[in-house]
Amino acid sequence: MGMTARAASLSVVGTVTRGTTNPNRLRRMDRWIAAAHGAELRRAEDPAAVDLGYGAAPWTAVELLDRLRSVAPRAHVTGVEIEPARVTAARPYERDGLVFLRGGFEIPVPGRPLLIRAANVLRQYDEAEVSAVWRRLCARLAPADPGTGSRGGLLVEGTCDEIGRRHVWVALGPEGPRTVTFATRLGSLERPSDLAERLPKALIHRNVPGEPVHAFLRDFDRAWAAAAPYASYGARQRWIRTAGDLTADWPVTDGPARWRQGEITVRWEALAPRG
Ligand SMILES: C[S@@+](CC[C@H](N)C(=O)[O-])C[C@H]1O[C@@H](n2cnc3c(N)ncnc32)[C@H](O)[C@@H]1O
Repeated sequence: MGMTARAASLSVVGTVTRGTTNPNRLRRMDRWIAAAHGAELRRAEDPAAVDLGYGAAPWTAVELLDRLRSVAPRAHVTGVEIEPARVTAARPYERDGLVFLRGGFEIPVPGRPLLIRAANVLRQYDEAEVSAVWRRLCARLAPADPGTGSRGGLLVEGTCDEIGRRHVWVALGPEGPRTVTFATRLGSLERPSDLAERLPKALIHRNVPGEPVHAFLRDFDRAWAAAAPYASYGARQRWIRTAGDLTADWPVTDGPARWRQGEITVRWEALAPRG
């Protein structure tokens, strides 16, 4: 499937794919965005967010608005979908701060948004297309502003299972990829590498020996096994202990407050594919 295979209007960039979605599926990603990017959204003159490829029903866009508004009351969301019937179906759900538009990777909103979230969208494209799509989307983000200390907009691109128990996403700024976050419902986890099946497109084919993401998941599983005695205090305590161990060898960017949520975030450079 090529990006050149464009939808009906030539100005819409991308390809229609399956529209599978579910209520509350993206809650982990929404909460992380609110925590990681809430301050930027709160102080922005125009805290504009885009839910790109929201799918056959508008739930994820509605929920993103609610969760962003809990940290940035002026935030507003545009749901952008390449499949016209999905836009028509979503329109009745428009309300204050929420609109739906037909469009693709060109991001048909005025100005440069502070957030673009693309969940379970690139998974259906070819791996070779990812870097060009990232560059295109990053170029649409609000720029950094050294004058105010703003780091600019954030692109959050990732994948999860049908009900959002296992999630992996990459966060990118206007300058390119920054971090990779693994997020899981801890009660459902046998070992951290269970998350491998939800790696974003840029990483899923790289989970093979010799690639950094493979080494990371191997170390993650080892640390999890070593932390087995903590399981008697619950999976949360075991995860926190595991994440703490990983900081010895991997550039983990978060700490216990996020680990408690069943998350861990690592610098992109440490997991980026070789060559
Ligand atoms: C699997 S659904 C994901 C729905 C929702 N984001 C979620 O995670 O539950 C993917 C959606 O992305 C849409 N899509 C694919 N490429 C797109 C593009 N370039 N621009 C906008 N939407 C796109 C598809 O039409 C499909 O409805």
